[in-house]
Amino acid sequence: MKENSEIVFIQDGEIKRVSIGTNGIHPTTTVLNYLRNSSDHKGTKEGCAEGDCGACTVVIAEIAETNKLKYTAIDSCLVFMPMLHGKQLLTVENLKADEKLHPVQQEMVDKNGSQCGYCTPGFVMSLFALFKENKQASQDDIRDALTGNLCRCTGYRPIIEAASSACAQGNTDHFSKMEYEVIQKLKLIHSENNALSHTSSEQSYFQPTSIQEALKLLSEHPDALLIQGATDVALRVTKKHEVLPKILDLSAVSGLKTLQDKSNEMVFGSGMSLEAVKENTEHTFPALYKMLAVFGSRQIRSLATLGGNLGSASPIGDTLPVLMALNARIELQSLSGKREIRMNEFVIGYRKTQKQGNEIISAVIIPKMNKDSIISSYKVSKRKDLDISTVSSGFSLKFKNDEISEAILAYGGMAEKTKRATSAESFLIGKKWTRENAEKAGEFVYSEYTPLSDARSGAEFRRLAARNLVLKFWDETHQH
Ligand SMILES: Cc1cc2nc3c(=O)[nH]c(=O)nc-3n(C[C@H](O)[C@H](O)[C@H](O)COP(=O)(O)OP(=O)(O)OC[C@H]3O[C@@H](n4cnc5c(N)ncnc54)[C@H](O)[C@@H]3O)c2cc1C
Ligand code: FES
Ligand code: FES
Repeated sequence: MKENSEIVFIQDGEIKRVSIGTNGIHPTTTVLNYLRNSSDHKGTKEGCAEGDCGACTVVIAEIAETNKLKYTAIDSCLVFMPMLHGKQLLTVENLKADEKLHPVQQEMVDKNGSQCGYCTPGFVMSLFALFKENKQASQDDIRDALTGNLCRCTGYRPIIEAASSACAQGNTDHFSKMEYEVIQKLKLIHSENNALSHTSSEQSYFQPTSIQEALKLLSEHPDALLIQGATDVALRVTKKHEVLPKILDLSAVSGLKTLQDKSNEMVFGSGMSLEAVKENTEHTFPALYKMLAVFGSRQIRSLATLGGNLGSASPIGDTLPVLMALNARIELQSLSGKREIRMNEFVIGYRKTQKQGNEIISAVIIPKMNKDSIISSYKVSKRKDLDISTVSSGFSLKFKNDEISEAILAYGGMAEKTKRATSAESFLIGKKWTRENAEKAGEFVYSEYTPLSDARSGAEFRRLAARNLVLKFWDETHQH
């Protein structure tokens, strides 16, 4: 791959060129640190540097399929500078025009949505992205757009009121007038066709734009760390201060972001953001949608990908149990071709999968739901949003003549990997879905696991929660 260290993006309306290796910019310099180190962009704040507070929220604009700009709020503390390549970066400094506040800022003032003000730029940027979506934002939409922003002094009511009033005004603002010009600039950057590739004695970074190029790079650099949304990996930089020596960034590979709707299954590109997956599963795979609705926050889901959640193979990865229940298959690709592995067999140990070093996760294939099946998912955590699972689960039951013919009860947070409760599943086969049988299956679940006690919960709570989730499932589905 041709060496090219120049990150090209739009900032303050102008095309900006920043070379990796100059002015303290490394491949893993976060956008937040870049902004905080420039004298005129300190509106963006740092709270946690781990995606939990939203003080660092900025908005990224990209050309959408409709040839319009799509505005997305993200946590700049989790985004590496090269990920800006070919995009527009918008910060709170850009919102005012002709000395007039943007409608979302004006509403925050009018509704008294700010006290100490530390969180306010982050809230304003999340609200700005919501405003640009141009929809009649419901209270749920507003709350969802704000789950990634914490305020410790104002209270959320005035902020939600500001959001409602701003979104009721349509989405026309001074960005609307500049949209054509920005699209032309982005097209110009893309026409330069310069995929990023930077090598130094300390860190190498490759950002291919096609699957073939990515696979070739991986075969040449089998020691490279794959990243997609980097929401897991960025914490190794911001929290552990690790220097990641070699990175293969798949975030610019458009071929990994496609969705195919086939007659009997849907194929989700591994690079699709979890927010995009969520948008496409509400009616097709409600159990997956339900889990994604409480996954991180809007800012996290807009960065995080399906491939990254599977690649991290965390025992508390939230998509894993529900993908097991949905009988999903994981598509892996290497230069020698593609192969598929059933989700149920994909994870083989603590953060270990069947993926080989020369392979990438390229897609997740989910069979369309069978009418004879009931499927659901549950997440138990200390708070509903932006929290890590204490216990999570994906359940599916298939029926034949009113009796259970297939059962999957998959749990996260109960073992070193996402694990099925096989004794409970065997018990259920051939039984009717009665309360009594659900209770008995719950007892099998209770005895099946020896979970850990940790900061989130004791082992006994986990066992009881896992047992009771079977009853919750029965309660919600027995009249199917
Ligand atoms: C504030 C915050 C909240 C979070 N909330 C949740 C939550 O509610 N539930 C949850 O499950 N997780 C949560 N996470 C963890 C994380 O967001 C998810 O695991 C996410 O799906 C990771 O996706 P990514 O694209 O960002 O992965 P990355 O960080 O890019 O990569 C993660 C791992 O996957 C590997 N990988 C990435 N892409 C591929 C590929 N195509 N092929 C093979 N391997 C690959 C990488 O090498 C790495 O090991 C949270 C993280 C943060 C910071
Ligand atoms: S600084 Fe807290 S989310 Fe980025
Ligand atoms: S206004 Fe002080 S933290 Fe929100």
